[in-house]
Amino acid sequence: MDKNIQIDQNLIDYIFSHSKNLHPIQKKLLKYNESLGYNKRLQISILQANFIQFLININNYKSCLEIGTFTGYSTLSMALALPTDGYVYAIDKDKKTNEIAVKFFKEAKVNDKIKTEVNNGIEAIKLLRKNKKKFDLILIDADKESYIDYFNYSLKLLKKNGLILVDNTLWKGEVSNLKATDKLTIKLKQFNDHVKKTKINKYILPLGDGFTICWK
Ligand SMILES: C[S@@+](CC[C@H](N)C(=O)[O-])C[C@H]1O[C@@H](n2cnc3c(N)ncnc32)[C@H](O)[C@@H]1O
Repeated sequence: MDKNIQIDQNLIDYIFSHSKNLHPIQKKLLKYNESLGYNKRLQISILQANFIQFLININNYKSCLEIGTFTGYSTLSMALALPTDGYVYAIDKDKKTNEIAVKFFKEAKVNDKIKTEVNNGIEAIKLLRKNKKKFDLILIDADKESYIDYFNYSLKLLKKNGLILVDNTLWKGEVSNLKATDKLTIKLKQFNDHVKKTKINKYILPLGDGFTICWK
């Protein structure tokens, strides 16, 4: 049996109280997402966002790509961590949530560091590939059905020493359930098997709903 502590809300609060304070607009956006009820689960966890900021800072990254902007918490967190000449390219097919995200980006005064695109994820990254764009960090957090395609394109869009991060790769723990038959669990299992077969350096962190980290 491996040695891992159980992390409850008390411990998470303790971690927060011993980490960098959240930006006021991050707090405002979290409160907004809370008001969404069931859909609030779509946002990455605060610890995941803090971890992404840490990775951006220690690597001096300047360019990020996000597939799955939603209301903007992860994109905003990336933009806040980037230097003034850094930028995030954020893709989501949903015009409504994108408008909400842009409103928060403007409020946090980081909108000049963020370019959003309302489009199907695959179409958008095909275009980025065609235009020979490259990124330091790519966060995949959109439809699970397309994860393998997103990942394969991301390998081509990633700079040397760059990172690909993928959310939900433990899928509430269901990926290790041999009896699981639902479509999305099967997709996530196929995705994890696919990543395992690639030569890239990778690791699945038990953070949030499972956070795969790959380094090129
Ligand atoms: C889990 S949420 C992203 C959460 C976001 N990263 C955050 O932390 O707040 C997934 C998003 O992917 C978007 N999405 C789903 N299918 C998509 C597709 N085919 N192309 C682009 N975006 C898609 C949804 O509209 C949704 O906003």
